Amino acid sequence: MALLPIRIYGDPVLRRVAEPVREFTPELRTLATDMIETMYAEPGVGLAAPQVGVSIRMIVIDPTAGDEKGKAFALINPVVTRSGEHVVIEEGCLSVPDIRADVVRPERVSVDYQTIAGEPAHLDADDMVARIIQHEYDHLDGILFVDRISPVRRQLLRKQLKALAKSQGKRS
Ligand code: NI
Repeated sequence: MALLPIRIYGDPVLRRVAEPVREFTPELRTLATDMIETMYAEPGVGLAAPQVGVSIRMIVIDPTAGDEKGKAFALINPVVTRSGEHVVIEEGCLSVPDIRADVVRPERVSVDYQTIAGEPAHLDADDMVARIIQHEYDHLDGILFVDRISPVRRQLLRKQLKALAKSQGKRS
C-alpha cells in the first residue's frame, strides 16, 4: 500500500478524457487500494484515477462521506444517470486546494459500474453520496467543479486558480 501524490489544477492529466478499463489486473486492484488509502489520508471523500495521474475510468468513494472508515470502494467504468431536483452543495477538490464553492447538481444518481473484480454492479444514491459520485465522475471527463460554479464566483476565483496553475507549472 502506498500514498499517491495528488495532481493539482493546471496539470494536463486533469483535463483528459480518461480511458475505459478493459483488464481487471492485480495492478488495478493495487491502484484502487492505494487510491482509497490516499483519499482517507488527505482526507477526502472521493478520488478519481486521473487525480493520481492515471487516466483511466476508475473512481473511489467513501459512501459514509467521512463518517466511518473502511467502507470505501472502487467504481470502474461508471455510467451515471442523474435525476431529481437540482440542489446546491458546497464542494471542494483535492486537486484544487483551498478553494470551496457552491455547485448546483441533481440530487440523485443511478450508477452502473464494474467492481474491482470486473463484476457488473449498480448503485442508487442521493444526497452527499450522489454528489460525491457526480464530482468524481466529472474527473473522468476532464471536468473540474470550478467549471460548474457561477460565472461571478469563477471571476472572483480567477487569480487564485491562475496562481495554482502557475505553481503547478513550476512543480512539473
Ligand atoms: Ni475532485
